[in-house]
Amino acid sequence: MGRVSYVQGGYERGGGGWPALAAAVRAREADDGAPRPVGRLFYLALPPAVYPDVLAGLRAHCAGGLLPALAAAAGGGGGAAAAAAHATPQPAPPHTPPSTSWVRVIIEKPFGTDLASSEALSEYVGALWEEACVYRIDHYLGKEMMQNCTTLRFANAFLAPAWDRQWIDNVQITFKEPFGTEGRGGYFDGVGIIRDVMQNHLAQVLALLAMEKPVSMAADDVRDEKVKVLRSVAPIALGDVVLGQYSAGGGTPAYGDDPGVPAGSRTPTFASVALHIDNDRWAGVPFIIKAGKALNERLALVRVQFRAPPRALIGCRGSGGGDAPCAPGAGGRPLDAMRNEFVMRLQPDEALYLKLVVKKPGLGPEAVISELDLDYAARYSGAYIPDAYERLILDAVRGDQQHFVRRDELRAAWAVFTPLLEAIDAGRVPLHPYPAGSRGPPQADALAARHGFVRNEKYEWKATGRPAPEEEEVRCEGSDDGDGGQGGGGGGRGGVQTS
Ligand code: BG6
Repeated sequence: MGRVSYVQGGYERGGGGWPALAAAVRAREADDGAPRPVGRLFYLALPPAVYPDVLAGLRAHCAGGLLPALAAAAGGGGGAAAAAAHATPQPAPPHTPPSTSWVRVIIEKPFGTDLASSEALSEYVGALWEEACVYRIDHYLGKEMMQNCTTLRFANAFLAPAWDRQWIDNVQITFKEPFGTEGRGGYFDGVGIIRDVMQNHLAQVLALLAMEKPVSMAADDVRDEKVKVLRSVAPIALGDVVLGQYSAGGGTPAYGDDPGVPAGSRTPTFASVALHIDNDRWAGVPFIIKAGKALNERLALVRVQFRAPPRALIGCRGSGGGDAPCAPGAGGRPLDAMRNEFVMRLQPDEALYLKLVVKKPGLGPEAVISELDLDYAARYSGAYIPDAYERLILDAVRGDQQHFVRRDELRAAWAVFTPLLEAIDAGRVPLHPYPAGSRGPPQADALAARHGFVRNEKYEWKATGRPAPEEEEVRCEGSDDGDGGQGGGGGGRGGVQTS
């Protein structure tokens, strides 16, 4: 805390805080002694309405001459004109070779509320700050498992050929929170779950999962591929959308009872949307994106469900109609519930597991689902997994923009969701109530099923090495999107499940 100081003052245009902040920054740099390069990183965790003034103020007072001259200072861009209208720019830092000094700005979402407002903000920002200095933060890109996604996909030869429409039936990206708006309803009501979580966090997850292999891991090579995915998302059909709003349940008051939520609000606190990526790799593979507040658990995961083999000898429904293994040549249909799944569990309890069909140990021939399980807590016990923000702020200090959202990515993500948001605002999408603490509206399960997802209620993932409380080995009912909880039957090694 000894390194922290606080400067108070208004940040509106011409506000008294700007000269004070500029002076404090220069004094801090002068304190560092011998001439050396400086880095100035500004983090805007502010109401979006003040971004224009603050970005113009920072540029005019605190950029220290480290940004290129304004291209449109004569009045072309609104941002440039606004900066010019600010007080006299401050001189460069006292003792710094500009070639190695830098100035950057981190901007928190929301970046607009739809395509048009986001573009207007981007225009403004772009006129003031060159893209190389702008770090649009999306903290999902800083999560361990998302950072792992590229490594996993492109460093494992066996995975690459299986990662397409030929092998994958459907993909689910799920975000669940067990609490409601809890007094933030006034803010949330103007936003809704799609703007809050889907257009940004889950769209970024989608882009990383579905992108082609980049030329290199350089920030723009990766972002080039991500933006292509977002631009390839087909227009959303309203029939592929389920919206919900939580009612009272389990001691949680209804969303509508949150102080600040206007009476009769139709803001969705839950949404499930089937997206289609219109390219050769993904044609016909639905990406079912689901996000909700006040649900039954905290969970974020990606579930890639593979196709069943075209013809099965084992783990199939035989001609007799039972689940017994098929007789050779009987031409049985594979049991859908025995599909392979590759699951990336983002939180809580980072894990990767691949659900496989194996012979149940023992004398019988029965097939069961088990898994290859990489439970981070067990495998990397004691490893430090940094908080997403910690990692991303360090990236910004280092000047690595790979895990930040580029302007064209932002535009593409808004383009995906804006027509849907307009339809919602126009009251064209039904809103289903769901009790707080539940799995959300049942219509969402029906949507996923319609798009080919087979939910295996009998399987439960139990992380390796966790304490094994006394419980039945297999919990067959009420298993959820996360393959159950952290139980651990069978001596702490779980997951084997009768079909
Ligand atoms: C934020 C949303 O961006 O992400 C919140 O505004 C949400 O509503 C949060 O709770 C979720 O982040 P995490 O890291 O807890 O999954």
